[in-house]
Amino acid sequence: MSSLLSNPRAEAVLDRLREQDERQSSSMKEHVGSRIRAHRSADSRYMDVDTEFYRDKLVALDQDKCDFAYLQCRSLQARRVVEVGTSFGVSTIYLAAAVRDNARGDDTEGVVVTAESEPSKAAAARANFAEAGLAEVIDLREGDALETLREVGGPVNFVLMDTWIPIVMPALRLLIAHLRPGAMVVCDNVGLFAQEYTEYTDFVRNPANGFRSILIPYKGGFEVSVRVS
Ligand SMILES: C[S@@+](CC[C@H](N)C(=O)[O-])C[C@H]1O[C@@H](n2cnc3c(N)ncnc32)[C@H](O)[C@@H]1O
Repeated sequence: MSSLLSNPRAEAVLDRLREQDERQSSSMKEHVGSRIRAHRSADSRYMDVDTEFYRDKLVALDQDKCDFAYLQCRSLQARRVVEVGTSFGVSTIYLAAAVRDNARGDDTEGVVVTAESEPSKAAAARANFAEAGLAEVIDLREGDALETLREVGGPVNFVLMDTWIPIVMPALRLLIAHLRPGAMVVCDNVGLFAQEYTEYTDFVRNPANGFRSILIPYKGGFEVSVRVS
C-alpha cells in the first residue's frame, strides 16, 4: 500500500494492479531473460517484441520510479505531462494524481496525455482511471504514439518514456519542440538495455542538444534528462 499520494481511491486501484503485476512477474522474468539471451547472440539492433505475450502483461513501472515521477511532477508544478506507454495505467495514475494535486486551489486543471497502441490495454486503463477518480485529467490516445502524440496541446513539463525501445528516440524528436525550459524527460531500463539505447543516450547526454542527463541506479537504470536550453 503506497501512502505517498494520500489518495485512498487511487491507491486502492494501484494495490490491485500491483498484485496483478506481481502474479505475472515470474513468467515475465523468464520471457525477458530468454529474449535478451537470444537477442545478444543475434546481430540485430533491437530486440523483437512478442506482442502476443505482452498483450495481457502490465509491465508496470516500478514503485520507486513511480514515486520519483510523482514527486518530480509536484516539484515542477507540472500541468501538462506526456507519457509514452500507458499499459494498464499504473504510472499514469501517479502522473495524474500529481497533475490533479498541483491544480488544487486554482482553476487551471492539468492533463496527462498518454499513448497506448494495444486496444485491450487502453480499454483496461480507461476503466482503471475511472475507478481511481482521475479520468478527467487523463487524455488517453489509443494507437501508435508516433501518430497520436503529434500534437499535445501545449507546453510540456514532464515526459515519461516507458515503451518499446525503437519508439523512444522518434517520440523524443516529436515532443522536443513542446518541452518547457526545465522540463524533465525520464526513460526506463536505459542501463539494462544500454546497447539498444545508445542513440537515445548519445542524444540526451550531449549538452549540444539542450539536455543535461544522468542515469539513476534504480533497477534497470532510469535516465533522467532535463531540458536546459
Ligand atoms: C512498459 S509498458 C508501459 C507500462 C506503464 N507505463 C505502467 O507503468 O503501467 C509499455 C507499453 O507501451 C505500449 N506501446 C508499444 N509501442 C507503442 C506505440 N508505438 N505507441 C503506443 N504505445 C506503445 C505497449 O503496448 C505497452 O503497453
